[in-house]
Amino acid sequence: MKIHLQTPGEIRLQIWKELGRASLDRHHEWRTSVMASTDAVGLPDARTVVLRQVDAQAGQLTFYTDSRSPKVAQLQAQASAMLVFWSARLSWQLRVRVLCSVISSGPEVEALWQKVQQSAAAGDYLSPLPPGAVLPQGSTADLGTVNVPVPAHSLAIVRAQVLQMDWLELSREGHRRAQMSADSWDWLTP
Ligand SMILES: Cc1cc2nc3c(=O)[nH]c(=O)nc-3n(C[C@H](O)[C@H](O)[C@H](O)COP(=O)(O)O)c2cc1C
Repeated sequence: MKIHLQTPGEIRLQIWKELGRASLDRHHEWRTSVMASTDAVGLPDARTVVLRQVDAQAGQLTFYTDSRSPKVAQLQAQASAMLVFWSARLSWQLRVRVLCSVISSGPEVEALWQKVQQSAAAGDYLSPLPPGAVLPQGSTADLGTVNVPVPAHSLAIVRAQVLQMDWLELSREGHRRAQMSADSWDWLTP
């Protein structure tokens, strides 16, 4: 049964609760979102990313990536990005305007690497070639066949500071939409 939250305070709290749950539960529909950024010539780019940590107090969402991936250069040049989440269970779409900072070295990354390197995902950050590199002629999609040295890990943390959220609830009783920042709330037409 769907809960019908009424007040801005209740809705805001539940949004952050769901984000927090999604960072811990791989089956939560908000575990993955689409992150849209802008490329070097101003064209939109977007990809799926896994939500790894949520700090509701600080208004921050954290993702992991390969420091050599194109999105990292894009976010370093233009920190403004958009995250889009959809949950059929909740009938909620959440569009989150964020400012991203990329942390690719230092104690936080090294502490995280100590954990990640023992997990099945370690290989994602040890690939000899950067994500999106064109493979040499004759090689297959299996990077094991590419004869280049394996670098040190390229794990990076993307920390997204939430600036604004656009929440849309689809419902037979009538759709509802609101736009909120840390200190504002506006109901919008859906
Ligand atoms: C379900 C799913 C989850 C993904 N999670 C991540 C992620 O957490 N971080 C990441 O960098 N790429 C992730 N990817 C891969 C990206 O969508 C993308 O293909 C890759 O990062 C290269 O993106 P870029 O060229 O825009 O940098 C995921 C892909 C899928 C299908």
